[in-house]
Amino acid sequence: MDLKKANDYIASFAKLIEEKQPHKITGKLKVGVDLGTANIVISVLDEADKPIAGALYPASVVKDGLVVDYVGAVQIVRSLKQQVEDLLGTRLIEAATAVPPGTIGGNAKAMANVVESADMEVINVVDEPTAASTVLGVKDGAVVDVGGGTTGISILKKGRVIYTADEATGGTHMSLVIAGNYKVSFQQAEEMKKDPSREREIFTVIKPVVEKMASIVKKHIASYDVKKIYVVGGACCFKEFEGVFYKEIGVETVKPKLPLLVTPLGIALNCKK
Ligand SMILES: Nc1ncnc2c1ncn2[C@@H]1O[C@H](COP(=O)(O)OP(=O)(O)OP(=O)(O)O)[C@@H](O)[C@H]1O
Ligand SMILES: [Mg+2]
Repeated sequence: MDLKKANDYIASFAKLIEEKQPHKITGKLKVGVDLGTANIVISVLDEADKPIAGALYPASVVKDGLVVDYVGAVQIVRSLKQQVEDLLGTRLIEAATAVPPGTIGGNAKAMANVVESADMEVINVVDEPTAASTVLGVKDGAVVDVGGGTTGISILKKGRVIYTADEATGGTHMSLVIAGNYKVSFQQAEEMKKDPSREREIFTVIKPVVEKMASIVKKHIASYDVKKIYVVGGACCFKEFEGVFYKEIGVETVKPKLPLLVTPLGIALNCKK
């Protein structure tokens, strides 16, 4: 796995989201819709997997893989789709979406239904950490997606996913701890958490949460021969995050530069039947 290559790839997608510049289209598009607890992201790639457009909306219409506000979710996906279609001057027809590992039956269907209600045909539903592993090109090791509400774990061996799990922990839990510690609202805690100038101070407060996350991951990977852990998801943005994982688990832990965008990109890479 070439982390530098993956970082450049993710950075090119981040630039597209930021600049909102249209890109030239060649061939059939691949679309990914990530219905996250904290963010809804739409990613569009061209036939050669080059990112050509993307849009993100912070939302709380899905909680831990469960759609809690169906109408709201559809509205957001529709508006993101429209935004991207206007930039590209073409319509998005097919899409892939993702669910936390272990999401089954009606709950998994509900996620796909949101995308279908926004007028895209869902041709694949992948699990989140597995989607992330596609971007990183991980063939062996564990991919851990620490999102807003859930932490997904995917273990790969020789390019095959051999184990997946999902745990109810993520950035939301960090914010709750910050809110309690500083006696501020959840929203204020969210802002404090993302303020780079306070990163060191805040990390001291949430370090026990990260240690707990690491101990959860350690249990899941215990019976597998995992030599490397790849962390992705918005909640692992902290500089010291992977260091805590390494210390707790004793397995080398690496993180791409823009961890929040890895899973959304991976979903688009999996937009195939
Ligand atoms: N710079 C940052 N520092 C710390 N935390 C951050 C930062 N940026 C985002 N986060 C946190 O990351 C989480 C969102 O990450 P992500 O977009 O991966 O989650 P999601 O996909 O919406 O959720 P899930 O996968 O659990 O459904 C939020 O808790 C958010 O506060
Ligand atoms: Mg996610």
